[in-house]
Amino acid sequence: LEIYLNGMRGLQPRYPADAATMERRAAEALPPWVLSYVKSGAGDEGTQRANVEAFAKWGLVPRMMEGAYERDLSTTLFGIELEHPLFLCPIGVLGICSQDFHGDLATARAAARTGVPMVASTLSQDPMEDIAAELGDTPGFFQLYPPNDRDLAISLIQRAERAGFSALVVTLDTWVTGWRPRDLNTANFPQLRGYCLANYVTDEHFRSRLGNDPDADPLATAALWASVFGYATSWSDLDWIREATSLPIVLKGISHPDDVRKARDLGVDGVYCSNHGGRQANGGLPALQTLPKVVEAAADEIPVLFDSGVRSGSDMVKALAMGATAVGTGRPYVHALAVGGEDGVVHHLRSFLAEADLLMAIDGYPTLDRLRAAGLERVH
Ligand code: FNR
Repeated sequence: LEIYLNGMRGLQPRYPADAATMERRAAEALPPWVLSYVKSGAGDEGTQRANVEAFAKWGLVPRMMEGAYERDLSTTLFGIELEHPLFLCPIGVLGICSQDFHGDLATARAAARTGVPMVASTLSQDPMEDIAAELGDTPGFFQLYPPNDRDLAISLIQRAERAGFSALVVTLDTWVTGWRPRDLNTANFPQLRGYCLANYVTDEHFRSRLGNDPDADPLATAALWASVFGYATSWSDLDWIREATSLPIVLKGISHPDDVRKARDLGVDGVYCSNHGGRQANGGLPALQTLPKVVEAAADEIPVLFDSGVRSGSDMVKALAMGATAVGTGRPYVHALAVGGEDGVVHHLRSFLAEADLLMAIDGYPTLDRLRAAGLERVH
């Protein structure tokens, strides 16, 4: 309505209402090496494309006269009441996607303005404490890429808890980087040298290992970071992670129902069904196809977060109808950040939420419970 009314006053919208147009605008705004970093997926990017296409294979069946005049999309995650079942995925090196290199802070401010929680990446370009401060009362979760230096891992986890993050998201699928030809064929990242290390260079433990000034020798800093980055987490590691923090622990990169059952047995607080947007392994199933079995194995005992391929409010509704507790926007918000900074991300989040809400209204689903009970039908 706001957009239509403005149109009657002759005011054109500043930002596009759909992810595809936003992506085209971002491609004009971003330098080629940054665009390549955001776009790149593993192999021929088949899994990445399939993630997106999978949503068209499912359809909602509308119900009429169900009184969906007012919708309630609120949900509870780790004891926190959320107005919307949407969150901002962790995106490493997000700063390079914004004009002033402080994309993490811009995103945190957009999260605070909309109440949409943000998952802050280990590889943020602003220190986690600054991101938490911008988030204010809006929930933030800290995403950990566990380094192979345990003291450093514990230091990062405890900083996140002290900074006020409400959950720890441990990413399991990126202890080595996937084979990404789009990036490998460019390999032109001089600007990355000093940027992706904010949480490391502000860490006392990292600094004591580095033994010199990170600004004086960014390549030495990057080399130490590369030598500690990447630890193949195993189930037994949950013991020391649990000991290090009282935050709820969520495992990111889960696709197999047996892994969900194992996580539940070990007292994990949530699973995050994702294939990293197809950036890590090619030749896998579209993430959406793995979601129903993950939800079934979670058995309503632990929440299921979901991402990979979500490009619209209607995609979000479909994943919720399959039983996801909350759904993540990834590349779409990165594009919005590139196009419009903080305002662009706010616009993107509001657009997703407005489309989801309208769809729930038109399709006659006033609550998430009603939506889930109705289920989806496979397109023949
Ligand atoms: C990511 N993703 C990611 N995940 C994570 O746990 N930590 C990280 O630092 C990053 N960094 C990152 C950078 C970029 C440029 C992208 C595109 C993705 C994965 C991310 O959280 C999410 O799983 C995917 O973005 C979902 O796929 P789509 O929907 O964005 O295609």
